[in-house]
Amino acid sequence: MTILEFQQAKRDKKRLAVVTAYDALFTRLVEQAGIQTILVGDSLGIVVQGKPNTLAVTMDEMLYHTKLVASSAQRALVIADMPFMSYQASTEEAVRNAGRFLQTGAAAVKLEGGAVMSDRIKAMTSIGIPVMGHLGMTPQSVHVLGGYKVQGKVKDRAALLLEDAKVLEAAGAFGLVLEAIPVSVAKDITDAISIPTIGIGAGPYCDGQVLVLHDLLGLFDAFTPKFVKTYAHLKTDALQALSRYKEEVEQGKFPSDSESYH
Ligand code: KIV
Repeated sequence: MTILEFQQAKRDKKRLAVVTAYDALFTRLVEQAGIQTILVGDSLGIVVQGKPNTLAVTMDEMLYHTKLVASSAQRALVIADMPFMSYQASTEEAVRNAGRFLQTGAAAVKLEGGAVMSDRIKAMTSIGIPVMGHLGMTPQSVHVLGGYKVQGKVKDRAALLLEDAKVLEAAGAFGLVLEAIPVSVAKDITDAISIPTIGIGAGPYCDGQVLVLHDLLGLFDAFTPKFVKTYAHLKTDALQALSRYKEEVEQGKFPSDSESYH
């Protein structure tokens, strides 16, 4: 999947299924399922590293996981999330850090924020770094937002989101993640811009959807927002397998003859 194909999907009215991945094993599974866009999300801070939020994830950690995903992806468009403080301080630092993700194998980067990020996006796209924006509930601003709350519920905040979306499109963003905003606001944005909107908690009218892999597989249940749909219950399966293994070792049932060399 190229950036152009990703954008063409909106014109062809084909919905885009996007999922996060952080390592080679899951990248292969995601591709085998036919999913063509992978986000190496900084959500790995929560679901892989066990932290309470995404703020402590570093550039080096994101680059490491991006390398694992990009080197095992055969066809998927790999988008790397820029971690907190890798792009906020200055445009120059943002561009340098974005470039490192492309050098590591990603085809694009994603960053959070509205119109204030337009100079970063312009600078990146002008030198060949495709950028995806992220509006609405932006997890790196969790402290300013007062928690993981739905955004754009009042009229003027919704209007601001729409304005931000138009500014990011004009700056050159190739797509936008819309997180935790009302269905009608996401629809208005989707209708108003020509680049694909990828929703997470933004209703059915977006051009595509994204979920965190560990949420949709039922591996992570410490915090499950309303917008998550759990398509499998792998945590339950894993717990059963581990308990059985423990029991069989303790009871001397494992290894049996068939798992032993003679
Ligand atoms: O970090 C992430 O996984 C994300 C998605 C939830 C959009 O930003």
